[in-house]
Amino acid sequence: MKITVVGAGGNVGATVALSIAQRDFAKQVVCIDLERKEGDKTFYPSKGRALDQWQTSPVYGFDTHLVGGTDYEMTKDSDICVITAGVPRRPGMSRDDLLGTNANIVDSVTRELVKHSPNTIIVVVSNPLDVMTYVAWKASGLPAERVMGMAGILDTARYRAFLAEELKISPKDIQALILGGHGDTMVPLPRYTTVSGIPVTQLIAKDKLDAIIERAKVGGGELVGLMGTSAWYAPGAASAQMVEAIALDQNRIFPCAAWLTGQFGLKDLYVGVPVKLGAGGIKEIVEVELNKEEQELLNNSAEHVRTAFKDLERIMNG
Ligand code: NAI
Ligand code: 2OP
Repeated sequence: MKITVVGAGGNVGATVALSIAQRDFAKQVVCIDLERKEGDKTFYPSKGRALDQWQTSPVYGFDTHLVGGTDYEMTKDSDICVITAGVPRRPGMSRDDLLGTNANIVDSVTRELVKHSPNTIIVVVSNPLDVMTYVAWKASGLPAERVMGMAGILDTARYRAFLAEELKISPKDIQALILGGHGDTMVPLPRYTTVSGIPVTQLIAKDKLDAIIERAKVGGGELVGLMGTSAWYAPGAASAQMVEAIALDQNRIFPCAAWLTGQFGLKDLYVGVPVKLGAGGIKEIVEVELNKEEQELLNNSAEHVRTAFKDLERIMNG
């Protein structure tokens, strides 16, 4: 199993690469990024990071070989490619501000990837996530089940972590689901949140749960405010979990950005929904029953994503 990460000289990409290696299911992780020029010096961030990470293998005890560089020849015949290339969100910047710059980057990176791995599976991480996944899908020419976006696992992980803190229980015992676009309109679903099978609503007061939901929805922004750039540990770990599910044909059910063709009453857009992830990518979109309020929230989030799609068209068509 050969995995490529593009943008691996940056925070999220480097964390994805190391998280994959630590899980020890892949033969090789190829870490691609641009070279960086400073004065008369040229630096190769992904080559350096991959070398540093490979040197952790005796300590962590993994066999996955990490190599880095700038040449897409290295990526030839990758089974799965993760795209984190782009510009991260800075304070005061919305995810949608990133649209034009990152669309051009994701488009060109995807074309290079499929040139060398025409049958690959692509996991997009670059923001704005739902739109960038669409850009990659279009540029790749691949079937929709082979191109998906990572956000739902991260958003749900934040929600689960906040709940674990509040309830003073292990985060491992919390199962939850967040639907919708990767943005402030995302839709956490308390009805589908359980603690070892116990509905969370039986364990926490409504006002506390509401506060946690609101915090999870702006969880990315909270970290931007603290660090001056966006998060990478949880995004990296979440992306690696998707790659592992595909590589090992685990049939895991995760919220991922998937191309909808009528599911949940929505079509012709990428948005976060539960999917079955295994060999070949998305095997199934798992439709769960939503009540009126939940459906309205999902529709609102989808509308927000559609607006970003329209903005993208406007920017790209000059
Ligand atoms: P970063 O700036 O640390 O890394 C981005 C890397 O992309 C840089 O090393 C840069 O050189 C590289 N890059 C830019 N253009 C490239 C090209 N044409 N080819 C190859 N590499 C290229 O940024 P960070 O923090 O790693 O974030 C990466 C992206 O992930 C951002 O768009 C960010 O908003 C997004 N993100 C998405 C999350 C999600 O849940 N989907 C969560 C966190 C970040
Ligand atoms: C995050 O949620 C900004 O999308 C990035 O951390």
